[in-house]
Amino acid sequence: MTTIALRTSIPGPKSQALLARRKAAVPQGPFNIAPIFVERGDGATITDVDGNVLLDFSGGLGSLNLGHGNAKVVEAVTNQAQKFLHTCFHITQYEPYIALAEKLNAITPGKFAKKTLLVNSGAEAVENAVKIARYYTKRPGIVTFEHGFAGRTLLGMSLTSKVMPYKYGFGPFAPEVYRLPYPYVYRSELDEDGMIAQMREFFHSHVDPRSVACVWMELVLGEGGFVVAPKKYVQALAKFCKDNGILFIADEIQTGFARTGKMFATEHYDFEPDLITMAKSLAGGMPVSAVTGRAEIMESVHVGGLGGTYGGNPLACAAALATIEEIERLDLPARAQKIGDKLRNRALEWQKKHPLVGDVRGLGAMVAVEFVKNRQTKEPAKEFNVGLVKRCVENGVILIYAGTHSNILRYLVPLVITDAQLDEGLDVIERQLSA
Ligand SMILES: Cc1ncc(COP(=O)(O)O)c(C=O)c1O
Repeated sequence: MTTIALRTSIPGPKSQALLARRKAAVPQGPFNIAPIFVERGDGATITDVDGNVLLDFSGGLGSLNLGHGNAKVVEAVTNQAQKFLHTCFHITQYEPYIALAEKLNAITPGKFAKKTLLVNSGAEAVENAVKIARYYTKRPGIVTFEHGFAGRTLLGMSLTSKVMPYKYGFGPFAPEVYRLPYPYVYRSELDEDGMIAQMREFFHSHVDPRSVACVWMELVLGEGGFVVAPKKYVQALAKFCKDNGILFIADEIQTGFARTGKMFATEHYDFEPDLITMAKSLAGGMPVSAVTGRAEIMESVHVGGLGGTYGGNPLACAAALATIEEIERLDLPARAQKIGDKLRNRALEWQKKHPLVGDVRGLGAMVAVEFVKNRQTKEPAKEFNVGLVKRCVENGVILIYAGTHSNILRYLVPLVITDAQLDEGLDVIERQLSA
């Protein structure tokens, strides 16, 4: 029994009619990977309005580690909806906000007292983490990385690296942002010690560490293509930050909630970030994000300095609490490791046969394949990758690309996917690789 069931070509007639309405009513700015419209989602599958069943290897851009339609999450949201939808936490408070803050304080890395602020999106979490870091340190500077992605707000774009489509035409950007080369092992000419020396030199040649509030880092690049920072580098950077009064913000927005084989990627690195940003799979698809950090840092900001109308909306809090409980009950970190092994092994087989497969890498189920035109020059094979993704969608597997040059295929499969579904999806990709 296969899962993929295509009754029409993709997109089918009903999706095509909706695409025409979309074109007339919605600007072209928001990009779309799949030209289909969804009727329902179950686990790792999506059924579109034409009755086509597709495998979802992109999981709501990483927000569906728990998959589509988890019964406990739906029940929690339904129960909350029957009581009240919203009050605004600033006006009248409610228990789910507190319960979620307590839960995140307990499960995030760091053996110290913590506090949590809830906001709405990943970008907003990053904005707030930086606000808090600047307030606490009374310093202006922010250090970010090449290939980083922090969202689409002004500060999000300023911390982000990739120009097209994220920054082109949207400047001027926020000041006091300094950009380190990411420790990109596959593309760097430096070894780990060289990268660490480069990082230290950066604080002589680019910015005075005494004026830096925080370093913002994705321990595994998300949009940048699942590049895994070496542990030695992260530990050296964390030590440098500590020695110089710079706060370390670990962005766990794409890496968090079991994706890397642990609840948080930070757990692979044996260090304690001062602040952690979370969003995406935190709430099973409901919009909520969080900044969790050392209590004395979080507490430093004056009353009224943080918040927003919808931050920590009760439906999203109820969803997040149920999502985390389910991730723990199903032991999804262990499952992510197994899924990652399967994804990695298949990609390593492709690497033996297909000269375009330049690099296979990742952490847990956060696995990516980087395509290059030539293994020596490592020239990015963008057109090949974009074409591959398109053909896979047409054949029933929803995939997404990544990387500054869009030449990286990344898997964000829901971690509730079955082995049979995983094999079926990988078979489709394998056929399209050679097509
Ligand atoms: C690491 C990282 N940080 C921040 C963001 C921004 O999140 P959002 O799209 O919810 O604003 C993303 C989104 O992809 C991300 O991957």
